[in-house]
Amino acid sequence: MINKLINGDIWKDTCGNTIHAHGGHILFFQGVYYWYGENRTGNRYVSVYSSTDLMNWDFRNDVLTTESKTEKYRVKTDTSLVTDDGSKINIERPKVIYNEKTKKFVMWMHVENGRDYSLAACAVAVSDTPCGQFTYLGSFNPFGYMSRDCTLFVDDDKTAYFISASRENADLHMYRLTDDYLNVDSLVNNLWQGEYREAPAVVKHNDKYYMFSSYCTGWAPNQCKYAVADKMDGRWSVLTEIGDETTYRTQPAFFLTVEDSGNIYYFSDRWNGKDYNDSRYVVLPLEFDDEGKPILEYKDEVEIR
Ligand code: GAL
Repeated sequence: MINKLINGDIWKDTCGNTIHAHGGHILFFQGVYYWYGENRTGNRYVSVYSSTDLMNWDFRNDVLTTESKTEKYRVKTDTSLVTDDGSKINIERPKVIYNEKTKKFVMWMHVENGRDYSLAACAVAVSDTPCGQFTYLGSFNPFGYMSRDCTLFVDDDKTAYFISASRENADLHMYRLTDDYLNVDSLVNNLWQGEYREAPAVVKHNDKYYMFSSYCTGWAPNQCKYAVADKMDGRWSVLTEIGDETTYRTQPAFFLTVEDSGNIYYFSDRWNGKDYNDSRYVVLPLEFDDEGKPILEYKDEVEIR
């Protein structure tokens, strides 16, 4: 049994294999936490692990691979999961949310052609169960815009938002999703234009929304900044620095609010740009002072609870 996770170490699943869930996301569903993330080994794109204690993770499935079932959902959608020469495309920052109306698990992600970052598209996949094979509905440019680093956020009223870096990463777009979460419905915000924010992650605390993001320096870490808003589609504050100049050598992946305790954790990637599969995780508790200012301090080890 694992009861302490060492930040920056190799984290293993309950079978002793390295956890590959980079740039990921955790979904809480019916008493179980599901951790989805990038797995670039073999023919895999996205893997899922599950846990009830947030420390011991069972490998459950490779939910998106080069072999996944595809289905065309929109008119201008590219459903190929390999390139013309049969090599892998690039799938990054997969996030999965549950749609209560359709009872489907919906994944949004960033897709590139496997050679460079010129495609700048997002994609959607869908499944009836959290660990089942997702059906890939294909990649597209939301409203024709470029779309790179991304995240999803579901508000208390179940309205979902997709946030992604646009205009060669200069701007951060926020789209409200359609009720089924399968499409963009409206561009509701165009944030920090010209500031080149990447790796967005949103958390709600005491009726305020906080968005963390990094600057645009590839695999190399940089100073994280955050902003606050009263409403997702409202006015966001200017960006304020948090953590140290490399954010403790991390880049945001997502926030987890633990169901029972209400504790909030900053999940991040400590990328290894030279050897991607050796990239690590750093998880830190996120705290707030009396004025609602977030505090992110480094800790060597973490107990997620
Ligand atoms: C980062 C981005 C990662 C990955 C990387 C590639 O800035 O956040 O998800 O795309 O660049 O260089």
